[in-house]
Amino acid sequence: MKLFDVYPINDITITKAQGSYVWDENGVQYLDMYGGHAVISIGHTHPHWVRRIEEQLEKIAFYSNSINIPIQQELAKKLGEVSGKPDYQLFLCNSGAEANENALKLASFHTGRKKVIAFDKSFHGRTSLAVAATDNKTIVAPVNETDNIIFLPFNDEKALQKCFATEGKEIAAVIIEGIQGVGGINIASDSFLKLIRQLCDDHGAVYIADSVQCGYGRSGMFFSHDYAGVNADIYSMAKGMGNGFPIGGILIAPHIHAKHGMLGTTFGGNQLACAAALAVLEVIEKEQLIDVAKQRGQYLLNRLKAIDELKNVRGRGLMIGFDVPESLKGLKKKLLFDFNVFTGEAKPNVIRLLPSLAISRKQVDEFLEVLKEAIAESVAKQEA
Ligand SMILES: Cc1ncc(COP(=O)(O)O)c(C=O)c1O
Repeated sequence: MKLFDVYPINDITITKAQGSYVWDENGVQYLDMYGGHAVISIGHTHPHWVRRIEEQLEKIAFYSNSINIPIQQELAKKLGEVSGKPDYQLFLCNSGAEANENALKLASFHTGRKKVIAFDKSFHGRTSLAVAATDNKTIVAPVNETDNIIFLPFNDEKALQKCFATEGKEIAAVIIEGIQGVGGINIASDSFLKLIRQLCDDHGAVYIADSVQCGYGRSGMFFSHDYAGVNADIYSMAKGMGNGFPIGGILIAPHIHAKHGMLGTTFGGNQLACAAALAVLEVIEKEQLIDVAKQRGQYLLNRLKAIDELKNVRGRGLMIGFDVPESLKGLKKKLLFDFNVFTGEAKPNVIRLLPSLAISRKQVDEFLEVLKEAIAESVAKQEA
């Protein structure tokens, strides 16, 4: 049987990983500035994470949500503490799309309304509502098309005000990434997020903070939306939550009430996934990784800004992007194949950096050195 060929892959086979390094089948070491798409939060194969999963595996890996699962409660408590939102409620699922799907559905149940405001360049996942709220027509199948989603320009306060003024009574939710990832590292301004909070309050709509990529400490705060100093009603999470073990979830404000059967999942919240997620939070706390992400990110950002060839360097914490000029078009591939460094991208010309929050200063310096070398080689080649 063949695999369904949907991924444009790099011809590399990774067989080992530790911290911020991975190794291929030939033993070649790569520096991972991509974290498998922002997933690796505490570092590949962190010993505490490995041990926690192993220990849980020996006891019980899975039983469905039809019995008491105390480790879910343990996870909820720890997540409340580390995120600074102890009064929120937790619903667990398996991925980012599923988290957003449940968030949107819950907002609709809660308000009894259908319309959702989303923004240009957003990415919320590939399930039916999440993809409908995603600004990429090529991944929306005809069956996913709906006129319930209203797309507005990102950070455009006037457009948002106008939309609420005309359609406020029908709006169930506003969904927004605190920092757009797939869209190319675009930061939602603090005043825009404050305005969303205010307009949702004024019109009885639900503010959904998609924190699948920008959450879990990556931005230097637990949720990047926290920079605005206001709370969302629902936070969706996934990627960094399990450090590679598949788990997602939503944090739900106390005023939104649950009803039996309203949401549900077979695999979500299984014992093994909860053990992985608990291990991640324990390491984030013990190693103070949110502060590390903030400091290391600032250091990296400042150094990148000093490289003339890179344009529009931006980001928060360890979620950083820069525009690559046309003259350096092959930079990402060059970094990977000539210098053994994984980076991310956003079309058409953005390199995205999403390393583990535990990346060391030495590794950041190693990346900067290599990046400068790769740029110098590309420039020299052009001049030759
Ligand atoms: C902001 C955001 N939301 C949702 C998703 C979807 O997550 P998943 O691929 O786990 O379904 C992604 C994935 O890249 C994302 O970046």
